[in-house]
Amino acid sequence: MSGREKPVVLVGAGMHGRVVRDLCRDAKIEVAGFLDDFTPLGTRVDDLEILGTLERLKDTVFLQSRRFIVTIGNNLARQTIADLIEANGGSLATAVHPNCVISPSAKIGAGTVLIGANMVFTRAEIGKNALIDPDATIGAESILEDSVYICPGVHLGSRVHVRKQAFIGLGAVVLPSTVIGRLSIVGAGAVVNRDVPNETLAMGNPAVSKGRAVMDNVSPYPARRRDA
Ligand SMILES: CC(C)(COP(=O)(O)OP(=O)(O)OC[C@H]1O[C@@H](n2cnc3c(N)ncnc32)[C@H](O)[C@@H]1OP(=O)(O)O)[C@@H](O)C(=O)NCCC(=O)NCCS
Repeated sequence: MSGREKPVVLVGAGMHGRVVRDLCRDAKIEVAGFLDDFTPLGTRVDDLEILGTLERLKDTVFLQSRRFIVTIGNNLARQTIADLIEANGGSLATAVHPNCVISPSAKIGAGTVLIGANMVFTRAEIGKNALIDPDATIGAESILEDSVYICPGVHLGSRVHVRKQAFIGLGAVVLPSTVIGRLSIVGAGAVVNRDVPNETLAMGNPAVSKGRAVMDNVSPYPARRRDA
């Protein structure tokens, strides 16, 4: 990262915020501090200060003097806040751990983080505000839409398509050319060998649908919401 880039503010000082703080240190991305609605102004979180609440995202001068990464695990909340930042004239930063291997032909959107030990193969495309946890691999020509959450140890084959705000749990494997629907949840350890429709919970090996997945806008790790 060039020394002339604006410092980054991490929006959300919870566990994911602290993880991204570590990533930024390794990636030599300057971090100015956190914004958080639940931690008092001036509190130190690791080596950084809470600079205020999310109200500061309405301050144009502040917005334009910084870049932002929304470090909230919940896919819906992350996207809503990132959209607000951009609508108010702010810009999102991308953070990729230096130990990742990224094809030069791959594309990674603004606001996305790759936490570490990730491989992103040829012509893969990752959208905005995606959260890619450690040791996840993204196959060649795969497409990940905005605000997806890919948990540690997930392996996506080539030409997998993960639609907006889907969540793929720890260690899941998605076979090539499979589509994971919008807002769907894939359970930990699943082996997905056929398309998962939108808003569907799928789990097991082979993964089967267990009903409708309904994500709230709070939980960092979505749990299944059983059909009433
Ligand atoms: C799939 C998942 C969303 C289901 O959550 P849930 O609805 O709260 O499920 P429950 O714990 O009530 O379990 C319901 C049933 O599904 C089974 N089950 C739960 N998760 C499962 C999984 N990943 N694979 C296979 N079976 C699973 C349970 O054993 C239980 O079976 P039973 O009814 O025969 O006893 C959740 O278990 C999961 O895998 N979450 C992903 C967690 C994750 O990866 N977090 C990331 C941390 S970085």
